[in-house]
Amino acid sequence: MSDLRLEPPSPDLLDALVALPPRPSEPANVAPVVYSLAEAYVTPTAWPRAILDGENVVGFVMANFDAENEIAAFRAGVWRLNIDTAAQGRGVGRFAVMQVADEARRRGFDAITVLWEPGDDGPEKFYLTLGFVPTGEELFGERVGILRL
Ligand SMILES: CC(C)(COP(=O)(O)OP(=O)(O)OC[C@H]1O[C@@H](n2cnc3c(N)ncnc32)[C@H](O)[C@@H]1OP(=O)(O)O)[C@@H](O)C(=O)NCCC(=O)NCCS
Repeated sequence: MSDLRLEPPSPDLLDALVALPPRPSEPANVAPVVYSLAEAYVTPTAWPRAILDGENVVGFVMANFDAENEIAAFRAGVWRLNIDTAAQGRGVGRFAVMQVADEARRRGFDAITVLWEPGDDGPEKFYLTLGFVPTGEELFGERVGILRL
């Protein structure tokens, strides 16, 4: 992965974005990208981005920046992250989370958060590897992790 970058969703990228796993018909613990894009459309604080490697869409990340949110864990953080199956394990997820951290810093935040489903088959180890620390809170049955910037 040598030429990673983020781009806002655009009509040209839409087909590749909604083709990322999971498809809407698949049972999964994470939302299909088509649903996240709909949420982004109705959520002014959402920050959705396609992850590109060269000209190829290899993932999708969505952050939320909402400094006034009454729930601290929802003020700045990673809301969605979907990496193409073929691109997993090559640093794409790490790149996307670090880009969210950079954007949060630019906006004046000193931490980002993420929620994950507990369990060995989920993304917990990924987030711990990146330096997120569990806060001890659970929201909607998911663990809250925080990364100080
Ligand atoms: C979890 C997910 C985002 C990780 O993305 P990725 O691009 O495969 O991860 P990276 O290659 O950037 O990995 C970064 C580090 O985390 C580690 N890691 C990633 N997934 C891991 C896992 N399942 N178990 C243990 N370690 C893991 C990597 O080994 C790597 O460590 P290193 O830098 O020390 O070598 C990706 O697998 C995915 O999209 N999964 C399905 C959807 C999902 O769970 N999304 C998160 C919802 S909150």
